[in-house]
Amino acid sequence: MPTSLKTYNTFGIDAQAAAFIEISSEDQLKDLLAQDGPKDYFILGGGSNMLLCNDLDKTVLYINNKGIREISRNDKEVILGFQAGENWHQTVMYCVENDLGGIENLALIPGKIGAAPIQNIGAYGVELKDVFVSCSALEISSGKTKEFSLKDCEFGYRDSVFKNALKGEYIITEVCLKLSLKDHKLSTSYGAIAAELERLEEQPSLRSIAQAVINIRSSKLPDPAKIGNSGSFFKNPVISRTAFDSFHAAYPDAPFYEVDATTVKVPAGWLIEQAGFKGKRFGDAGVHDKQALVLVNHGEATGQEILDLAQRIQKEVLAKFNIALQAEVNLIGCL
Ligand code: EPU
Repeated sequence: MPTSLKTYNTFGIDAQAAAFIEISSEDQLKDLLAQDGPKDYFILGGGSNMLLCNDLDKTVLYINNKGIREISRNDKEVILGFQAGENWHQTVMYCVENDLGGIENLALIPGKIGAAPIQNIGAYGVELKDVFVSCSALEISSGKTKEFSLKDCEFGYRDSVFKNALKGEYIITEVCLKLSLKDHKLSTSYGAIAAELERLEEQPSLRSIAQAVINIRSSKLPDPAKIGNSGSFFKNPVISRTAFDSFHAAYPDAPFYEVDATTVKVPAGWLIEQAGFKGKRFGDAGVHDKQALVLVNHGEATGQEILDLAQRIQKEVLAKFNIALQAEVNLIGCL
């Protein structure tokens, strides 16, 4: 039966799915994959990193299996397995409340655990790969379970094997993370965190860092429950040093981050703001007024309208800076 996906994607796009099945256990998913018949599924987690440009002529599998289990522990750390349907932010808060260190900088990232490895989620100096041990996934074609180690996942900046060579082939069912039990390695190198801790008059701790991140994110990033969005719409472009040298000569005040000897990362939010888009609105499609990297749906925008705006931004940033912006969100059915 056709089902509206409006409440299942944080952009709030009213696209229809041909059919919709909620998955509440790994066994249910295994049984489904073992059945004969078409296996052209669309795998949906929190719907927080995608733009739906059209109706989906597929069966949506809504991954909602829950549960946490302890896999191993020593006196320094514990490895926990989280079912893919667990909410990411609630998992962060569960860890903070139980004094388990490692993901406190990733507070308030929307979405579910199962999606975290796909794009190696990251924020404020920490990425999933820093705590990742392994994940289990079911191969859609065979229904067989496969374990992926840290190395197997080929994590990069907002990237993994699941976005490349194995795209669309596996459904992640469980993610295992290594969390510290004591001597937590706190990451406060990101300037905004240190400044927020000072403002809060707090010493760094799991709880204070999570609170600082929550405060920073809430002040800059729109709450998807109030205004549709998918966080950063584009990746921060990583450009060659030669390209950077001419960019830097023309815009000496532009922020940048060294990556390695041959490449430099430039913040897309700055480029988009300089191109004049910050806070702009075209119908119901818009650019957030506090963070130009975030595109927003002011109400009834279609996926196509958001895409048109994204393409207009790409064109103008390319013309002004000769830098190509690449989408960070998954574009579904977008031409
Ligand atoms: N900037 C501007 N104008 C803007 C936005 C940003 O000039 O409108 C400048 C800022 O002043 C700063 C720089 O750009 O110098 C970087 O901005 P910010 O610290 O806000 O981070 P970002 O690079 O825009 C990335 C991630 C975010 C993550 C933050 C914090 C990507 C694509 N985005 O944003 O991740 O929360 O760093 O670590 O890497 C997401 O992936 O959805 C996401 C929100």
